[in-house]
Amino acid sequence: MNPFPIRPLLAVSTGRLQIPAAVAAPGSCQFSLVIPTYNEGQNIAAVVHKLSELLDPVLLGRYELIVVDDDSPDRTWETAQALTASYPQLQVMRRQTERGLSTAVIRGWQMSKGEILGVIDGDLQHPPEVLLKLLSAIEQGADLAVASRHIEGGGVSEWSPVRRFLSRGAQVLGLLILPSVVGRVSDPMSGYFLVHRRAIAEQELNPLGYKILLEVLGRGNVQQVAEVGYVFQERQEGESKVTWRQYVDYLLHLAKLRSRGRISRLRQKYQLPVQRFLRFGLVGLSGVFVDMAVLYLLSDPATLGWGLTRSKIIASEIAIINNFLWNDRWTFGDISRQQSGWKQRLKRLLKFNLICLAGLILNVLLLNLLFNGFGLNRYLANLIAIAAVTLWNFWLNLKLSWRVTDTGGA
Ligand code: GDD
Ligand code: MN
Repeated sequence: MNPFPIRPLLAVSTGRLQIPAAVAAPGSCQFSLVIPTYNEGQNIAAVVHKLSELLDPVLLGRYELIVVDDDSPDRTWETAQALTASYPQLQVMRRQTERGLSTAVIRGWQMSKGEILGVIDGDLQHPPEVLLKLLSAIEQGADLAVASRHIEGGGVSEWSPVRRFLSRGAQVLGLLILPSVVGRVSDPMSGYFLVHRRAIAEQELNPLGYKILLEVLGRGNVQQVAEVGYVFQERQEGESKVTWRQYVDYLLHLAKLRSRGRISRLRQKYQLPVQRFLRFGLVGLSGVFVDMAVLYLLSDPATLGWGLTRSKIIASEIAIINNFLWNDRWTFGDISRQQSGWKQRLKRLLKFNLICLAGLILNVLLLNLLFNGFGLNRYLANLIAIAAVTLWNFWLNLKLSWRVTDTGGA
């Protein structure tokens, strides 16, 4: 006979990935440990058992274990739910709409009541005993306590040289991209750590992929960090979910943390048409190829062999028309569709043409100024001139050729 009734599944939290600062019944629970799972049906009972055995003596009645399962095909959530009859401190969330390790952890914390939040893998690769050291580090004032493979007492058991290399390589890349975050701990890839609620509460999190610790370090308010060494155990049951995808996600996550929404903030603040500009740039690039091709067809001795100047003028003009057509359809397509008469289109083409010609003159002037006036290397000077003229072309065309204001005029 089981001493407790089976608990209903925990409600699935939705909305912003944000952890509340205050909990419903403060003081009732000290520690909330999330166990993310996907197909860990063969491991979950042992994990829960070991954790309870370890925590009961020190925190009886003041901790909770939260399994967050992503609707595993092996029905891990069901197995875990059955365990609640023997472990009253266990709760289970079954997510069916959202997926992914990092968000699973946050969703679990969102529903938790503890002051101290934690995460541990559900496959016994993270030795439970380390938890006690992590807990005491937090109790001594750390905001974050990380179990690390890369300090005294830490390591990996039987990793192949390739896996070691990949793991270290990822860390070095991380140090290059985001030293202020990745460099704060010896094992930034660790998925085994505790964090004080106050350090991440009320902060909107936006993780990507596997590495939730990056998000906590990158967006949280973490002052004091402690580390405890541990040996990453071999998996006994089930299999790892890591694929090449996690490496890509990891890099994207770093890049995202690095920009910290800076680009989108700038965009909003100044209403910068970033996407349009990128399209404009691409179209410009296509123009370069058109120009080259026509120049070849007209002026090369192997083809028509016309004079260079005459050929270049025609080539430029065709490139300008090419660019116009693409910009009119694509870059500024939303605007031109509102003003689609052929007269209006011709007007836009003329304006575009004039602005581009003016740009060409500007290009030559700038190149001369930078090269002769400032003594810059000629190719660097040309590059700067091209960049400046692209901006000029884009801006003027945005303001003059594809103006939204005369929509009503038709
Ligand atoms: N809910 C949920 N959703 N859980 C997941 C998902 C998912 O999409 N993907 C993986 N998990 C669970 C697994 O069931 C396991 O409990 C834990 O997350 C870690 O996954 P593994 O596939 O076992 O990863 P690993 O063994 O390569 O571990 C690496 O990543 C860990 C991240 O937590 C190592 O870098 C560890 O140090 C690190 O702790
Ligand atoms: Mn694992």
